[in-house]
Amino acid sequence: MARARHWNSFKSAAQADGETGNIMTTIFKARRMAATLILSASIIPALAAAAPSSPRESVSISRNWRFTKGDPAGLTTDLRYDVRPPIDDAGDGKVADARPDAAVKVDDSGARVLKPWILPSANPFIKDPARHHVRPAGDPGSDVSYVQAGFDDSKWTPVDLPHDWAIAGPFITDGPYGGMGRLPSWGIGWYRKALDIPASARGKSIFLDVEGAMSYATVWLNGHLVGGWPYGYNSFRLDLTPYAVPGGRNQIAIRLDNPQASARWYPGGGIYRDIYLTTTNKVHVGQWGGTVRTPQVSKDRATVDLALTLDNDGDTAAQVSVATMLYALDAQGRRTGRGVASIARQSTSIAPHAKAVLNGSTILTNPRLWGPPPTQSPNRYVAVSTVTQNGKVIDSYETRFGVRKVEFDPNRGIIVNGEHIPLRGVNNHHDLGAIGAAFNRRAAQRQLEILRDMGTNAVRMSHNPPAPELLELTDRMGFLVMDEVFDSWEKKKTPHDFHLIFPDWHEADLRAMLRRDRNHPSIIMWSVGNEVGEQYDGEAGAKIGLELVAIAHEEDPTRPATGAMNYAKADMLLPTTVDLISLNYQGAGIRGIVGQYPNFRAKFPDKVILSTESASALSSRGEYMFPVSGSISGPVRPWSGGNPDTHQVSAYEMHASDFGSSPDRVWAADDQNPYVAGEFVWTGFDYLGEPTPYYTSRSSYSGILDLAGFPKDRFWLYQARWRPDLKFAHILPHWTWPGREGQVTPVHVFSSADEAELFVNGKSQGRIKKRDYEYRFRWDYVTYEPGEVRVDTWKKGQPWASATVRTVGEATGLSLSPDRATIAHDGRDLAFVTLRILDKGGNVVPSAKPRIDFSIEGPGGIVATDNGDATDMTAFPSHQRNAFNGLALVIVKGDSKRAGKIIVHAKGAGLTGATATITSRPNP
Ligand code: GAL
Repeated sequence: MARARHWNSFKSAAQADGETGNIMTTIFKARRMAATLILSASIIPALAAAAPSSPRESVSISRNWRFTKGDPAGLTTDLRYDVRPPIDDAGDGKVADARPDAAVKVDDSGARVLKPWILPSANPFIKDPARHHVRPAGDPGSDVSYVQAGFDDSKWTPVDLPHDWAIAGPFITDGPYGGMGRLPSWGIGWYRKALDIPASARGKSIFLDVEGAMSYATVWLNGHLVGGWPYGYNSFRLDLTPYAVPGGRNQIAIRLDNPQASARWYPGGGIYRDIYLTTTNKVHVGQWGGTVRTPQVSKDRATVDLALTLDNDGDTAAQVSVATMLYALDAQGRRTGRGVASIARQSTSIAPHAKAVLNGSTILTNPRLWGPPPTQSPNRYVAVSTVTQNGKVIDSYETRFGVRKVEFDPNRGIIVNGEHIPLRGVNNHHDLGAIGAAFNRRAAQRQLEILRDMGTNAVRMSHNPPAPELLELTDRMGFLVMDEVFDSWEKKKTPHDFHLIFPDWHEADLRAMLRRDRNHPSIIMWSVGNEVGEQYDGEAGAKIGLELVAIAHEEDPTRPATGAMNYAKADMLLPTTVDLISLNYQGAGIRGIVGQYPNFRAKFPDKVILSTESASALSSRGEYMFPVSGSISGPVRPWSGGNPDTHQVSAYEMHASDFGSSPDRVWAADDQNPYVAGEFVWTGFDYLGEPTPYYTSRSSYSGILDLAGFPKDRFWLYQARWRPDLKFAHILPHWTWPGREGQVTPVHVFSSADEAELFVNGKSQGRIKKRDYEYRFRWDYVTYEPGEVRVDTWKKGQPWASATVRTVGEATGLSLSPDRATIAHDGRDLAFVTLRILDKGGNVVPSAKPRIDFSIEGPGGIVATDNGDATDMTAFPSHQRNAFNGLALVIVKGDSKRAGKIIVHAKGAGLTGATATITSRPNP
């Protein structure tokens, strides 16, 4: 049976290597040791030489593209990747996405679609050579005007990448498009750019490296079809060499064909990550060619193994040698000082059009370990490999890594460098709110900074490979990451999701993610799928699970692979195929449905159990609804927690999706099952799409922070749990309720204290202690009267923190507060400016929603505005925006050509305006 076979073989590999114990790491270690051939090692305490400058060039070509939506008029060639099943998405009898079959065949074999020409791009990631795809004859699409150098694209829209064609809107306010964020992400888009490839590239290999294009990318160079990559979340490389003209202008054209109903959330559309042109010698380190492992780690020494894959694209065999030097990186990721260790020179011969792998090893003494703050530091290193042929340096390649030891202990959870680290994690989708899917480093960094402040130490990349730069940030900032590849396998969740291409692409997409990401110290585990339909499938589903987990082990024997299960129970087959038991919602249980942790624990005593999706609480920032529910984890209903007219959800933070729970309930279950390794909350930030429970909205209600990045009250609930030593108390709701005088208005306090006393206008409402499995203080029978609410708190009998909220006056003015006073004028760096609506005492008016007009003076521009209101259908680029419960956000960027002072203005009718100044500098 699949179950027994898998687990036994996995275990016996460890035992055969003499490893004992039930800690998962020892098993991984054993396999890794067997797999690594240590050729040489040397300890070099201090080395003088810096690596020579590299003969390889990788230049960003993200600037100055031309973009248009749709195919050329009168197109007679079928440029589809494949025929897609028609969908009646709107339920109106009209079938979407079923373009009439093109009248013309694309080649003489009768193939009508481009798939046979695209599939060979997957070959480097398909293990069995017998299954490699052979490119058919013909050059489909070469007759299409858009791919030709002579085509005049001057009327197309000039864009810089990363670019999301859909984020500007407008929102689609009718139809069933809430799931995908009500933005026009689907359809066809073309990008063109003329590249000057220097004459010096003659005789070299020339690659296009795309970090992400949404989706079904097909690439032509100088009128020739090069290849493509359907899955929009993965990074890919295409070899341009056969079609490139060094010393001339080269016309690149990229067509994307983003399906409707491709996702359960907003996918974005366009080339939404960076793109590079990489030029190397014919013999060079391959794509993602350096893999570092650290099989033995202690305080005093670490073994560093490097496997370097070399490609010979030339027609003659090559005799090469490689030497590698290790350097420490500083907190900004810059190489510091002199080398700290080296891997001795090794030689190999590489046949023409073949690969060779060189395995080397060294010892790092007193390694500076990578680990999560606040107790550890995210130290990193880089291995710089220099490839030499006939005495000449022909390539130099950097592999960044961290040295850390991660153990998976079924009784305690995750141990990093000997320290037990409970997972205090969140899930995040890839969109960055009002900026959309287009990756922006500062926007992502801001999110991580906010999460860090809350006490978050882990992120699950739900449910797809993230931008490489995001992983650079998690490495740098020290978050623990679950990297996840798919939301669906063979069974669909939406008509045009990954299931359409799973049979052809799952191996390539999984291996590509693993090879791209396996050096990131922040990644501690892989997920091969989220809540896949195959959970219900018994043997058939388990077979796919086994295959994917086996691929993960092959590409990376050092980390466990898992899959998130919301349905599969302990006695089913899928959980037997994964290394870690990762449960969505069902671990803690959902209201009347009993929690599954104990069952899984009993069945899998050797496996770590964690919650990949814990709470799925729902709320709208600042929207308090009465009467307040007595239940701590109720569903959202018109009479409790939800307002069916405004489509807002109560901010008391006691309501959850029908299939999830509130944080309070989740923690009670966690605390009763202390072997659980921790949680990933659904979600850190609100995201575009999936607006449960109101599908007429644009964005979700599940974030701890809203779409603009403003904290909901839940932020302090998590902070109290995740930063128990931080002294604070947070009172909700606000205390400005004209018309509620004399009515019951419950007051809740979120605090890391264990005892609290509440006063309304000086009158005590009672002093209470948190009991076991209680995570908030609540006074449910407070009667509203204007004035002041104060809370005093204690921890272990000692005074801890106090807080006050007061009734505020009418809105009279505005304030603007940028998150940073200085930004880089690189056209990418951003300032996030918070607008507040104030009364004359300078207090935020908590339910104010006036319209605000934003404008800019100086060398910058407004990228987007937002307010965190899931129902707001004002397009994001708009300079007018209603505040939502006292706040709005304006996102500002500097002009890429000029530095200087950027002045942001905000005005609102009857309100004193505000300004803020941001300085843009070349290199702040
Ligand atoms: C889960 C799913 C997530 C999201 C979430 C909403 O079942 O894995 O992608 O849909 O529910 O709470």
